[in-house]
Amino acid sequence: MAELGVNIDHIATIRQARMGIEPEPIHAASIAEQNGADQITIHLREDRRHIQDRDLRILREIVQTRLNLEMAATSEMIRIAKKLKPDTVTLVPEKREEITTEGGLKLTDALKPQIKEIKEAEIEVSVFIEPDFEMIGFAKKIGADAVEIHTGKYANLNSKNEIDAEVEKIFKAAELIKKLDMRVVAGHGLNYHNTQRLVELGIIEEFNIGHSIISRAVFTGLAEAVFLMKEIVS
Ligand code: PXP
Repeated sequence: MAELGVNIDHIATIRQARMGIEPEPIHAASIAEQNGADQITIHLREDRRHIQDRDLRILREIVQTRLNLEMAATSEMIRIAKKLKPDTVTLVPEKREEITTEGGLKLTDALKPQIKEIKEAEIEVSVFIEPDFEMIGFAKKIGADAVEIHTGKYANLNSKNEIDAEVEKIFKAAELIKKLDMRVVAGHGLNYHNTQRLVELGIIEEFNIGHSIISRAVFTGLAEAVFLMKEIVS
C-alpha cells in the first residue's frame, strides 16, 4: 500500500500573506496525521517565503509520523538539517524567482559529499528528479536512498497519448529505481483526478501531495467558516 506525505507549505503561504499567526501549519500537521497522513512534508526555502525556522523546530517536536524536509543542497540548509534531524531530506532545485519547484534536480558529482554528510547524521536522503534513466543511475552512484519522481510534467499534460507515454516513462523509471534498491516516491502537481492512475501502477511507495489537498480543504471548510462568523455578526 502506498503512503501519503502531506505537504503543508501552502498553509504557511497563507499565513505569510499577512505575516501573522494564522493559519497555523503546526495545527495542519496534526490534522493531517490524525486523518491518515504517513508523513508531513515541508520545504524550507532560502527566502523563507512560507515555512519558517520556527515551524521546523515545533514540527520536529510534534510530528508523530515522519518529517520530510525538502531543501536545496546548500551549506546553510545542510547545517539546519543536521541540527533538526528530519527523517528524510529531499534535495530539490531552488530558484528564487520560481513560484514553485520547477523541474527536477540536475544531479552532479558535487552532491556526493553533501549526501554523505546528511546520511552521516542518520537522515535518509531522497532526490527529486525527472523520470530519466541517466539521472536515476546517477542518484544511486552519489548515494541517494530514495528517488522522488517529478510528476509535474504528467500533471500538466492534456492529450491522452502524451499522458499514456508519460505514465509509461514514470513506470519504467520506478522499475529502475526499485531495481537499484532505492525507495520509489512521486510528487508535484498531483490532484484528485490524476493520482489514482499512478497509484494503480502499484510500484510507487510514497506520494507527496500538497496544493490540491489544501485547495480542497478551503471549500470543504468554507461553509462552516461563514456560518460561524454569521452567528457572531448577527
Ligand atoms: N514533492 C516535492 C519535491 C515538491 O517540491 C512539492 C512542492 O513543494 C511537492 C512534492 C508537492 O507538490 P504539490 O503542492 O503540487 O502537491
